[in-house]
Amino acid sequence: MQKIVLEGGNKLIGEVNVSPAKNACLPIIASLIALDGEILLKNAPKIADVLVMAQIIECLGGSYKYCENGLRLNTQNIKVYEADCFICKKARASFFIVGGLLARFKKAVVPLPGGCNIGTRPIDIHINVMKQFGVQSEIIDDKVIFNGENARSGKVVLSYPSVGATVNAICLSAFLKGESIILNAAREPEIVDLCNFLNGCGCKIMGEGTSCLRIIGIRALQKIKIEYLPIKDRIEAGSYMCMAAMTGGNIAFKYDNFEYISKMAEKLIDIGVEIKRNKNEVLLFANSGLKAFNLVADVYPAFPTDMQSLFCSLGAVCKGVSIIEDRVFVNRFDLCKELIKMGAKIEIEKGKAVVTGVNKLKGAKVFACDLRAGAALITAGLNAEGRTEIYNSEMISRGYEDIINKLKKLGAKIKEEI
Ligand code: EPZ
Repeated sequence: MQKIVLEGGNKLIGEVNVSPAKNACLPIIASLIALDGEILLKNAPKIADVLVMAQIIECLGGSYKYCENGLRLNTQNIKVYEADCFICKKARASFFIVGGLLARFKKAVVPLPGGCNIGTRPIDIHINVMKQFGVQSEIIDDKVIFNGENARSGKVVLSYPSVGATVNAICLSAFLKGESIILNAAREPEIVDLCNFLNGCGCKIMGEGTSCLRIIGIRALQKIKIEYLPIKDRIEAGSYMCMAAMTGGNIAFKYDNFEYISKMAEKLIDIGVEIKRNKNEVLLFANSGLKAFNLVADVYPAFPTDMQSLFCSLGAVCKGVSIIEDRVFVNRFDLCKELIKMGAKIEIEKGKAVVTGVNKLKGAKVFACDLRAGAALITAGLNAEGRTEIYNSEMISRGYEDIINKLKKLGAKIKEEI
C-alpha cells in the first residue's frame, strides 16, 4: 500500500500553481459522449479520476491521449452504450455519463456507482429526474438500464440540487428537441463551467449558476474540434490555503474567480489568517494563534463540503472549541478517528464534530479513508511534531495533481513511498 511520509514543523512559503478543476473536467468529459469530434482539455490535471473518465470514453469506442498541453479526446467512434463495470467502479463520477449516452443512443447501461466512506452515494435523484424526462430505468445485477426511446424535453424539478443529477439532466436536455427547464439545479462553479463548455459547442443553455436552467435542445452529435481550459480547482486552492494556515506560512496563487473561494477565505479570516488580493493573485499570511470557529458545509454558494475535512484538521489546533456540521455528506467524519490518533480532541455530537483545539498535534500512522480526508491528514501532518505516515495515499493523488512536488516546493518535508 502506498504511503505519504511527512515531518511536520516547516512553514509553507511561496507560490503554488492551482490546476484546472477535477470536478469541472469530469462532467465536461462525460458530456463529450453526446458530441462528435475532438477536444483538447487544456492543462487537464494528470490525476486518476480524470484518467478513469478518459478510459470510459475509450471503452465506449472513443480515444484519448495526454499530450504536453492537456488531454486530447476523440468521440467520433463511440459505438457502445454500455460502460465497462470494472472501470466505472473506480470513480463515482462514472455515473455522469448517463445523460450523454441517452442523448447519443437513447439508451444507457451503467453500473451502480460504488459507495465510499463519505456515504452510500444513492442515485434516486438521478433516476427521478430521468423519469421526468420520460426515461424509464431499472436496476438489474448491479447495473442501471435506461430506456430513452420516449425521452422528451420539458420541465423537471430536482428534489435536491445534486451536482451529478444536474450534470445528467443538462447532458440529456441539451440534445432533446424543444425547450427544457431544470428547477432546483446545482449552482456549483463546475456546473457553470460545463454549461460554458457546451454553449461553446453550440448548445443553448441559459441560467447557469442559478437554480433554474433554461435549455433549448440542439441535435446530438454536433461536429466539434475545440480547445477548452476548465476553471481552476477551488478545492485545491482552498486545500493549500488550509495547509499554509496550519503551518503559520504564507503562500500566493493565481485565481481568477475569487467568489468561488470566498466562503473558505472568509472562514480563514474569521480564524485569524490574513488574506489579500492583488488583481488575480491571492496572498495568504498566517501566523500562530488561530481562533476556533463554527462551520456549516452545504450546497453552493455555501461553504463547500469538500473543504469540511481540512477545516476539521485546522480546528484541531485552533484555540477554543470549533463546531463543524456537514449538511451534504452527513457522515463525512470518518477522518476524525485518524486525527484523534494524532492527538486531536474531537467528539461527534448529534451529527456535528465538536473539536477542542490543542497546541500541537503529534505524528502518527494514519489511514486516508477518502480523497478529502487524505488531504486533511496531510494538513494535520504538516503541523504535527515528528513523523506522520498516511497509508492509502493513492486516494489523495486521485484528486490533487502533483501534490508532493507542489508541497516540497513550498518547503514541506514530504515524500511518497510506493
Ligand atoms: C459531486 O459529487 C462532487 N464530485 C463531490 O466531490 C462533491 O462533494 C459533491 O458533488 C457535492 O458538492 C464530482 O463532481 C465528481 P451530489 P456528487 O449528487 O454529484 C445525495 C470530491 O471530493 N444524493 O451533489 O456525487 C448524496 O448522497 C467529491 O471531489 C442523493 O441522495 O454529489 C449527498 O448526500 C466528493 N441521491 C448529496 O446528495 C442522488 O441521487 C450531494 O450529492 C444523488 C445525491
